[in-house]
Amino acid sequence: MDNLDKINKVVELILESNNITALTGAGVSAESGISTFRDKNGLWSKFSPLELASIEGFMANPERVWSWYQYRVNIINNSNPNDGHFALAELQKIHKNFSLVTQNVDGLHQKAGSENVIELHGSIIRNKCFDCNQIHEESVINNESLNNCKACNGLIRPDVVWFGEMLPEKEIKLAQDLSFQSDVFLSIGTSAEVYPAADLPLIAKRNGAVVVEVNPELTQLSDYVDIKIELKSGEAMPLILEEYKKRINK
Ligand code: APR
Repeated sequence: MDNLDKINKVVELILESNNITALTGAGVSAESGISTFRDKNGLWSKFSPLELASIEGFMANPERVWSWYQYRVNIINNSNPNDGHFALAELQKIHKNFSLVTQNVDGLHQKAGSENVIELHGSIIRNKCFDCNQIHEESVINNESLNNCKACNGLIRPDVVWFGEMLPEKEIKLAQDLSFQSDVFLSIGTSAEVYPAADLPLIAKRNGAVVVEVNPELTQLSDYVDIKIELKSGEAMPLILEEYKKRINK
C-alpha cells in the first residue's frame, strides 16, 4: 500500500471509530522550526540532557539550565503552529471523541486551536519554584537571570518534566485511560523511546485498538503498528483531515 492508500485506510478507521487518541512528539513541531531531540541534528546531539534537563543539572548550574531554557523559549515564542497542528485541532473539533496527548512542551497545539491538550511533560512557557512548586506567571519572570520564588525564595525553574522525574499524575493516568478506551491510536512525530508515554500505543493495541504511526522514519514502535504512514505530520495530517471532511461532507 502506498501512503495515499494508507491515508484512505486511516480515514475509514476514523469514520468508524468512537474513541481516538493521538499522541504527539517533537516531530510535529519540527515543521515549525523547533528542533527535535533525537534526529541527527536534534537537541541531544548538541546538548547534554543530564546537564540541562535534570534536577542534578539544575542544582549543579542553575544559571546554565535557566539560560538554555530561555534560549528554547525564545525560539518557541517566535514559532507558529504548522499544518500538522492545525489539522489535528480541526480533527478534534469535528470528530465526536478525539483526545490529544502530547509530549511537547511548546504550546503549539493550543496555539493551533486544540483544546484539553494533555501535556505529559509539562510546559516550557510555565515556570514554578524548584522548592515549593508554586507556579509563577510569565509576567513576573525575568528571562535574563535567575528568579526567586515569591513565596519561599527558592529558585524558579521551567515547569517541565526532567529526566528521572515523575510525570504529572493526573495527566499520565488520563492518557493511560484514554489509550485503553481507544479504538484508533495515532502516534505522530515521536521516536517512541521515552516511557511512560511510549507505553500508550501498546496499551491501546493490547486493548484492541488499531495503531497508526505518522513518521518519515522508522521507530521502536514501527514493528508493532498496524499502519505506518511514512510522511511528515505537516503533510499526512492535512491529507487525512481533507479526506475525512470529504467523506462526512463537511
Ligand atoms: N513529521 C513527523 N515526524 C517527524 C518529523 C515530521 N516533520 N520530523 C521528525 N520526525 C520524527 C523523527 O523521525 C523522530 O522519530 O519525530 C521523532 C522525534 O523524536 P524525538 O526527537 O525523540 O522526540 P520525542 O519522541 O518527542 O521525544 C520524547 O524525550 O527528551 C525527551 O522530554 C523529551 O518529550 C521529549 C521526549
